[in-house]
Amino acid sequence: MSDGENSGGEHSEPETPEPETYELADDMPVVPRLPGHVLLSSDADEAIDAVGLDMLMHAKACVRAFGDFHLALSGGSTPMPLYRRMMYDPAFRDFPWARTHLWIVDERCVRFDDERSNYGQIRDLIVDHSDIPKAQVHPIFAYEPDADTRYEAELREVLGWREKGHDRLDFVLLGMGDDGHTASLFPRSRALEVADRFACFNRGPEVTPPDRVTMTYPLINSARFIAALVLGAKKSRMLQRIATGADPIVDIPIKGIEPIGGELRWYLDPAAARF
Ligand code: 6PG
Repeated sequence: MSDGENSGGEHSEPETPEPETYELADDMPVVPRLPGHVLLSSDADEAIDAVGLDMLMHAKACVRAFGDFHLALSGGSTPMPLYRRMMYDPAFRDFPWARTHLWIVDERCVRFDDERSNYGQIRDLIVDHSDIPKAQVHPIFAYEPDADTRYEAELREVLGWREKGHDRLDFVLLGMGDDGHTASLFPRSRALEVADRFACFNRGPEVTPPDRVTMTYPLINSARFIAALVLGAKKSRMLQRIATGADPIVDIPIKGIEPIGGELRWYLDPAAARF
């Protein structure tokens, strides 16, 4: 796992795809000053399109450069329309699922047939409808007591098949809770302090179910590209605190997303960005 760009090895970094151009409506709110790049779309639908098309471009670029693409997807309600669209919209027909490794950013400690399971939902929306080989699908068995160490071992093994320096996630899709959590990194929770592991159990007393397994900062921050899809008026107060406040990371965990040699891009709609 690299903590920065690597100059060694025979593969070079994939070219960063040029972002698409999007038309903005006249009454758009001012683009908030968040850490990283901010893409403010004219509505939620366009934001979903934008993140999906960026994911597609990165997938193709990584497959060209490395032969495969390591994608980590979040749960929550926000990205579900994206996952659905990626299966039916012709724009995503040539997504290289057969070359993609699909990881889960965080998981609730329930079985996959529980409707709250992130993997269960992603399986129903993507895995069952794409040609991704089962061996390239990496759910978190969060209902098992050793789920965190198992996931860590799997991540290290599979990413380790790549050349040193390129052994990191390529694209991590994050959401944000109203309380500023991302993945299952909750305010003032123990996982925020984990610096030497890729996955750990964590607890968010205010979410259902509270027990989770989550990717940690070191793993997420080492990714080549981190996308934060944040939509809707319920998220605007927290975005305002991030943009203007001095709150520490322990109070607003998404502020701990600080890519090391990668890129963070926010995808917002006007409702989330209006404050
Ligand atoms: C989860 C997520 C979590 C989510 C946020 C936002 O499993 O719940 O991975 O981090 O992205 O809670 O959730 P919504 O999209 O439902 O607002």
